[in-house]
Amino acid sequence: MARLLITGGAGFIGSHTALVLLEAGHELVVLDNYANSSPEALRRVLELAGPEAEGRLQVIEGDIRRSTDLDRAFAAGASPGAGVEAVIHFAGLKAVGESVAEPLRYWDVNVNGSQRLLAAMRAHGCRTVVFSSSATLYGYPEAVPIPESAPIRPINPYGHTKAAVEKMLSDVAASEAGWRIACLRYFNPVGAHPSGRIGEDPNGIPNNLFPFISQVAVGRREQVQVFGGDWPTSDGSGVRDYIHVMDLAEGHLAALNTLLAGGDQLLQLNLGSGHGHSVLEVIEAFGRACGRSIPHQITQRRSGDAAITVADPSEAKRQLGWQTRRNLHDICQDGWRWQHSNPGGYAT
Ligand SMILES: NC(=O)c1ccc[n+]([C@@H]2O[C@H](COP(=O)([O-])OP(=O)(O)OC[C@H]3O[C@@H](n4cnc5c(N)ncnc54)[C@H](O)[C@@H]3O)[C@@H](O)[C@H]2O)c1
Repeated sequence: MARLLITGGAGFIGSHTALVLLEAGHELVVLDNYANSSPEALRRVLELAGPEAEGRLQVIEGDIRRSTDLDRAFAAGASPGAGVEAVIHFAGLKAVGESVAEPLRYWDVNVNGSQRLLAAMRAHGCRTVVFSSSATLYGYPEAVPIPESAPIRPINPYGHTKAAVEKMLSDVAASEAGWRIACLRYFNPVGAHPSGRIGEDPNGIPNNLFPFISQVAVGRREQVQVFGGDWPTSDGSGVRDYIHVMDLAEGHLAALNTLLAGGDQLLQLNLGSGHGHSVLEVIEAFGRACGRSIPHQITQRRSGDAAITVADPSEAKRQLGWQTRRNLHDICQDGWRWQHSNPGGYAT
């Protein structure tokens, strides 16, 4: 059992990962300012984890950019000689469009926030961190599936901040001994816990396809817009690699175990399924899961989109012994269970 600090642990990926980590026996301190989440998510995580997890989750409302909040999180519940052993760093802003409109806010939260966190880690003698990176780093990929060796060429401010933090982490790893770092480059995290108790609950209009489809299915929105029907793909719609959020959560546990078991490391790994699905295929699969067809309309391509983005996940399998276990059917079933039992998200 390790004591872990989870930044952004009330969010979509953080809450599912917190559950997997509690089930694995770890003790968690979550630091979140609820900028894009609800305290209800962690209440439900505790409910799902059951009495076994009693006393192993401490939640601190605070901001990763504020050193006093970070100090509180590192000190939380620690007995002498039992400080935080590792950090899983989810906290950040993630909407590409918003990052174009408000780049300074994105650099502040994502880059300055990560810098403050790393400084606090050093001050508290913790040098093990798993960082939420993104496939956005690759920009327009030259070839698919995309290996980790592909050029890092982000095309929007959100992607620039992720690239900057990866650079910061590699500089830190080179600066002194003792750092164990995993940058996990997620492809498209979707779905929900199979209980339907926790899931993705975006504020306002969803930026991503999957929550948009599920909100149309539940009657919150009229129809899905499919951006481009003339891409060079089998049905003309864009192809993406969708990863079930529970597979992603298990990927974090595997990364943590690998870091804790080894010496100094700097891992940069894709977490994806290695399979591509077109937008129209996802709309169809979701329609099967919810028992009704999903209204949609094909519109113009959106600037900044690529035709096909699919991970080469073989390095994660080799280095972490991890691979996805769930498919598009599971993603749609679990996503629909969450959405129809919580039509307004955690507020319902
Ligand atoms: N969901 C995706 O499609 C995706 C893809 C690739 C990478 N990522 C990255 O994974 C991480 C988690 O993503 P998510 O989908 O769970 O997003 P999310 O918005 O649901 O979770 C992020 C959490 O961080 C918290 N937070 C934001 N700013 C904070 C601050 N200054 N201090 C403390 N907490 C703060 C939010 O309240 C939220 O709970 C993010 O770093 C994101 O960039 C997400």
